[in-house]
Order: sequence, then C-alpha cells, then structure tokens
Amino acid sequence: MTIAQACLLVLLVLIYQIGHDQVVSLDNGLALTPPMGWMHWERFRCITNCTEQPNDCLTEDLIKSQADKMVSEGYRDAGYQYLSIDDCWMAKERDSKGTLVPDPVRFPSGMKALADYIHGKGLKLGIYEDFGTATCQEYPGSEFYLQKDAQTFADWGVDLLKLDGCNSNVNDMKTGYEAMGQFLNKTGRPILYLCSWPAYVQKMPALTDYPAFKKTCNQWRNYDDIQDSWDSLYSIIDYYGSNQYNLSAYAGPGSWNDPDELIVGGFGLSSGQEVVQMGMWAMMASPLFMSLDLRNVRPESKALLLNKNLLAINQDPLGKQAIRVWKINKVEVWIKPLSKPGASAFAIINTDDEGDPRVFHLSPAELGLPQTAQYNMTDVLTNEHFGPFLYSQSIKFTINPTSIFIAIADPS
Ligand SMILES: *[C@@H]1O[C@H](CO)[C@@H](O)[C@H](O)[C@H]1NC(C)=O
Ligand SMILES: *[C@@H]1O[C@H](CO)[C@@H](O)[C@H](O)[C@H]1NC(C)=O
Ligand SMILES: *[C@@H]1O[C@H](CO)[C@@H](O)[C@H](O)[C@H]1NC(C)=O
Repeated sequence: MTIAQACLLVLLVLIYQIGHDQVVSLDNGLALTPPMGWMHWERFRCITNCTEQPNDCLTEDLIKSQADKMVSEGYRDAGYQYLSIDDCWMAKERDSKGTLVPDPVRFPSGMKALADYIHGKGLKLGIYEDFGTATCQEYPGSEFYLQKDAQTFADWGVDLLKLDGCNSNVNDMKTGYEAMGQFLNKTGRPILYLCSWPAYVQKMPALTDYPAFKKTCNQWRNYDDIQDSWDSLYSIIDYYGSNQYNLSAYAGPGSWNDPDELIVGGFGLSSGQEVVQMGMWAMMASPLFMSLDLRNVRPESKALLLNKNLLAINQDPLGKQAIRVWKINKVEVWIKPLSKPGASAFAIINTDDEGDPRVFHLSPAELGLPQTAQYNMTDVLTNEHFGPFLYSQSIKFTINPTSIFIAIADPS
C-alpha cells in the first residue's frame, strides 16, 4: 500500500466513524426491541426484615415466587423475560478474596443456584450494583472492583446488570461506566447493560453526553425514580414530552431511554391512570419492567400488562420513541411512527383532573399526523375500527380525567 492509499484509508475510517458517531449503539446483540421483565425495586424496595414483613421480604423465595408466576400467568410468553433483583441483595461485606456475596440469610442457596432456577423457567436473571463506593442503600459498591464484579456476575450466569450511581463522583462516571461496559464485554457473556449514569447528570449539560450513553449502555435512566403515584408518573411523562437533549433521537434497536419501572398493579394509580402508564411506555418504546407482586394482581392490571396491541406498539421493530407534538390546556398528543409504511400510533392524554370526561374534535391534520389522503383508525384498547377519515375531517374523542386514548392511524 502506498502512503497516499494509507492516508485515504485512514481518512475513510475517520469519516465513517464521524458519520456514525451520532447513531452508534452498544453492540452486544441485545435489546433489539425494548427489554421486558420484572424488577423488584419499586414494589419491594429494601425490605430486609423478614420477621416484620415475611411476605414482602427480599429473599430467594420471593424471587422464585415471582419467576413461577411469570411463567404460570403468561407474562413470560408475552415477552417479559428478565427477572431483575435490585439493591439490598448483598451481604454488607465482600468475602476475604474481595468477591461479592449475597446475604447469607436471605439468599442461602447463592446466586448461581438462583440463576439456574430462573434459567430453568426460561427466564433471565438481572442483578444490581453501583458504580460508587457503596450502593444507594449502603451495600458494597463496585468502585475499584469493576472487573472482578463483572466476572463474578458472568460466573453466576447473570444476564442483566443495572449499574446505579450513588456514592460516586459525577466526573468519573463516563470513564467508569465505559470501563464496566468493556469488562462485561470481556467476560464473553452477553449481559444487558442498564446505566443510571444519565439520571445523575441530567441537570449538568456539560456531562450529558447522549452519544456516549448510547454507545455504552443498552438502556439508561434519564430522570428521577418513579414512585407509586400519578404525580410521579406524570412528571416523568412531562420530562420526556419536553424532549430536552433531543433524547428521543437516541432510542432505537440496541439502546433505549428508560423512564423507570411500571407501577401498574401497585397501589397508587386509578384504572385510567394505569392505562396512561402502560400506553405511554408503549408509545415511548420504553423498557417494560413490571414492579408488582405477581402473586396478587387485579385482573384489570394483568390484562393491561398483557395487552397484545400495546405490546406490539412497544416492540415495533422500527424502535421509534414517540414525540409529544403538542400540549394545550391540559391535553396533549403524542405520535410514534411504526414500521408499517405510513402508519403511526397516536395518543391523546387528558391530564385535567377536574370534572367529567372531556370531548375533543380533532382531525388527523390537527392531531399532527403525517399528511396523507385519509386514515383508517383502530382503537388499541377496544380493537374497534373507525374511519376512514379525510386528513382534515374532524373526529370526536371523549376522554376521562387523567386518562388516555390510543389508536393506530393507517393510510391503507
Ligand atoms: C425486625 O422487626 C422486629 C419486629 O417484628 C424487630 O423486633 C427487630 O428488631 C427487627 N430486626 C431488625 C434487624 O431490624
Ligand atoms: C463485545 O464487543 C464486540 C465489539 O463491539 C461485539 O462484537 C461482541 O458481540 C461483544 N461481546 C459481548 C459478549 O458483549
Ligand atoms: C434531533 O433529532 C432529529 C432526529 O434524529 C434530528 O433530525 C434533529 O436534527 C435533532 N435536533 C437537534 C437539535 O439535535
């Protein structure tokens, strides 16, 4: 090769890399559609006193009971495959070799045995650690042990790592999260990588580096933890609606914005509000991690978690995250392009909590749908078909307070 040829090659490689910088996602073959599973945190927290709360205490039996229900109640077959243990699973100290150990009273069989059990059910095991010196609940952190911990998780048969960011320096996070990603890769075991890093720097524009999040992580938390209430839920939806940092542009096969766990089936939402969460998580191509007690689920909540139309919108292979196209007087419209040419899912949320159902008259043009001669519509929740409607033809929508209407609009 001549020097000129070598220079040209280097230049081409550079151009290729610059051109792909915005779109490169973590290449571990995982999360080609938004990951689905169950995560213990929102519902079971750090309940570790098994005398006081035997039914809710975080133990291997609790995790196994949820695994059993994921299979017997049809969640696994609907696509929920990860069973993810969050903070508080560890003993308070590493062993004499510096290896992490699970709490010996609550996880007496050890994590390898638990992973075998979970795998035996056709599910995958997720685990939690923290990039800092300690986890958020003050269990041993991974700082200075990243490579060792990555190998420990791989040896146990872990399939997902959620890496939190308490007790660390935000300036170290980019290097640290990238290093952990490389150590996970080096184990040779495909491990879905969930990063809390962006949530810790969300108010620091200089440290908010979406191309780096996307290149490093399969899934990343952007914003605050979800709590079991409408206010918490809506504050999260509104954050994504404002789309600051253009974050919807970074969602796609291999890498997803994560608005946190599903609280459907918990204690804080009305039935309409549960539909808002499930509907919006579908629209936003969000990872779907249920956090509820699968031993005791209201039939309505279960039907929603298993709703085939909503799951199909969430899992659409195009992987586009919906954008809020407008918000006026406590009503807002979101649109998600689908893989079927010309088709979109759209959602109208009525966030008004006063009074009666509200009536809206909106044409496809006023909704903000892409221009076309006409649209056929399908109500996602009732499966009812309606239309066709000309692009400028008004359609009547009636929506309850703090509730949502979701439909597919298809030109054909
Ligand atoms: C657990 O709760 C019981 C009350 O049921 C209490 O007596 C005990 O001190 C608690 N244990 C710990 C470790 O906090
Ligand atoms: C490790 O990274 C390489 C290059 O990005 C990728 O091809 C490979 O699939 C990754 N392996 C694992 C186990 O994540
Ligand atoms: C946001 O993302 C869209 C879609 O990728 C892109 O067209 C647009 O230029 C981006 N805007 C900014 C400000 O980066």
